[in-house]
Amino acid sequence: MQETTFVMIKPNVMKKQKSGAIIQRFEEEGLQLVGMKLLQISVKKCEEFYQEHSERPFFSELVKFISSHPVVVLALFGENAILKVREIIGDTNPEKATVGSLRAQYGDSIGENAVHGSDSPKSAKRELALFFSSKELFQTAK
Ligand code: RTP
Ligand code: MG
Repeated sequence: MQETTFVMIKPNVMKKQKSGAIIQRFEEEGLQLVGMKLLQISVKKCEEFYQEHSERPFFSELVKFISSHPVVVLALFGENAILKVREIIGDTNPEKATVGSLRAQYGDSIGENAVHGSDSPKSAKRELALFFSSKELFQTAK
């Protein structure tokens, strides 16, 4: 199924100046870039974005990290894009991530794990809508 997913290139990658390498990897894997922005996300918007984790002990640290520095947000379109992107990104913990996955390559810790990707069609829809209007997504994504 052709679908669109949401990706965020997290602050630790931005500080290392490796956002281009992340985008290049997704393109090489056959995913089409259909939306892209660079922005610094407010604390409030980070809390909304990660609302499912609001009761978890790491929540405040997670929000502080994501809001600390500009990030790049992407919309990626392709066959089984949601699962495909999650596989390319790898396990939440970079130490457990498969060799060659983005988190194995660029993750520094479980908190600073380089890249976010939506985990389901429902999450993708919600997360895309938080960052992109319909007009901001390239035609094939609709
Ligand atoms: P993400 O949402 O960022 O793509 O990561 P994920 O699906 O692989 O993992 P999730 O369970 O949704 O967790 C969201 C983010 O919270 C941080 N985390 N820290 N200290 C911890 O035990 C812990 N567990 C999760 C990670 O930064 C994770 O990306
Ligand atoms: Mg998640």
